[in-house]
Amino acid sequence: MNTKKNNGFSGSIGFVLAAAGSAVGVGNIWRFPYLVARDGGGLFILVYLCLVLTFGFVLLTTDIAIGRKTGKNAWEAFSTIHPKWGFLGKLTFLVPILIITYYTVIGGWILKYAVTFIFGNGHLAAQNGYFSAFISNPSSSIFFMLIFLAISAFIVFRGVEKGIEKFSTFAMPLLLIIIIGIAIYTLNLTYTDANGITRTGLQGLGIYLIPDFNGLTFSKFLNIILDAMSQVFFSLSVSMGIMITYGSYVKKDVNLNKSIAQIEFFDTGVGLIAGLMIIPAVFVFMGMEGMTEGPSLMFISLPKVFVSMGFTGPIIGTLFFVMILFAALTSSVSIMETLVANCMNIFHKERKQMSLHISAFAAISAIIICLGYNVFYFEYTLPNDVTGQLLDVIDYISNFFLMPLISLFTCIFIGWIVKPKWIAEEMELGNVKFRRKHLYNFMIRYIVPVVMIILFFKSTGLLL
Ligand code: PHE
Repeated sequence: MNTKKNNGFSGSIGFVLAAAGSAVGVGNIWRFPYLVARDGGGLFILVYLCLVLTFGFVLLTTDIAIGRKTGKNAWEAFSTIHPKWGFLGKLTFLVPILIITYYTVIGGWILKYAVTFIFGNGHLAAQNGYFSAFISNPSSSIFFMLIFLAISAFIVFRGVEKGIEKFSTFAMPLLLIIIIGIAIYTLNLTYTDANGITRTGLQGLGIYLIPDFNGLTFSKFLNIILDAMSQVFFSLSVSMGIMITYGSYVKKDVNLNKSIAQIEFFDTGVGLIAGLMIIPAVFVFMGMEGMTEGPSLMFISLPKVFVSMGFTGPIIGTLFFVMILFAALTSSVSIMETLVANCMNIFHKERKQMSLHISAFAAISAIIICLGYNVFYFEYTLPNDVTGQLLDVIDYISNFFLMPLISLFTCIFIGWIVKPKWIAEEMELGNVKFRRKHLYNFMIRYIVPVVMIILFFKSTGLLL
């Protein structure tokens, strides 16, 4: 634990970029744009912005302040604050354990596509059946997953400042440049399809930004709010111990108010620009049918879009997959770091040794997930009516079930047992103003717990 004092972020920029690196991931790039397209365009964007600035802010602030104030990881932080609440630390620790099992698998898929595009074989990736052939072949999906895992492990192995901070300070600005560049390009696209219908990028922009109130009912609106809510969680990497760990590496002279606002801004900004880049492109070349959900948007629709772009396609496709590879790497690094840091405390082992052990665990569990698409294939209908494989089941347990539960407990704990003042003291350190203090106090005690209960019951399938 003493080593942690010399092992932290060098300053506020390093922290913000590393935390934004964790927050910006596949959630921003493939999930956010899809949700916007499905849930009423600008309407979803408005709802999402309101939720980030309220719920997202409360959860992010809580995690980061707990981390910095205690200087500990989730496993120990809660029991340090209150001996009876140690269980919450253990529950929180469960989330990265579950997520690491499949995040590296998705990372492996992205790596495979990046390599395919880099070697000029993007047209192959656009063929029907390419993605399913790839994931149903255990050896190739395991191979790419292992390489992705090895890169993440290497970054964590090098430590917080030399590994995570250094990589994030290089990857995040680059990611931003690429994503803005592609968005400008796709907004200028025009295409006439086989039926003679011409669609433009600007029309796609309309679909993305203009609020669509058509057929909106109360229950539909509630669903939009719940979709946006679960997106806030996943996207900001809150309620899973990651931001507690990163918070514990932040120096006391860093103004957390500023850093938190910057992380919210970065994460939401990348989601919004990802939508600017993806929705018009998919709309121009495939119309609304191309707007598929989750993996198929990225691994089936987008390669087809890139091929339809003609000679620029391979370049845009390569840039796109390299960019999302960075996004996925900084996220998987944050999950791994959280596991390594917690386990260093639990087992009193050194970082290097612990990194190797966690990598071995991650490799074995991810191999099982890869086999979920072939050897162990099954189809399971989740409470939200999505039929999924092993990966989706684990994802559901962690994101829809555990995260609302952890947020609920955390808010009750901080709001009613410890009292919000405890967080305010950390936010006001160095005589800075805790800008959204009243909002924070009110939300953490009354609003967030109620909404978390609704979200929890909804995800167990008992409600709606
Ligand atoms: N926040 C990341 C995203 O938006 C995902 C993530 C989840 C990262 C869990 C780390 C841990 O994609």
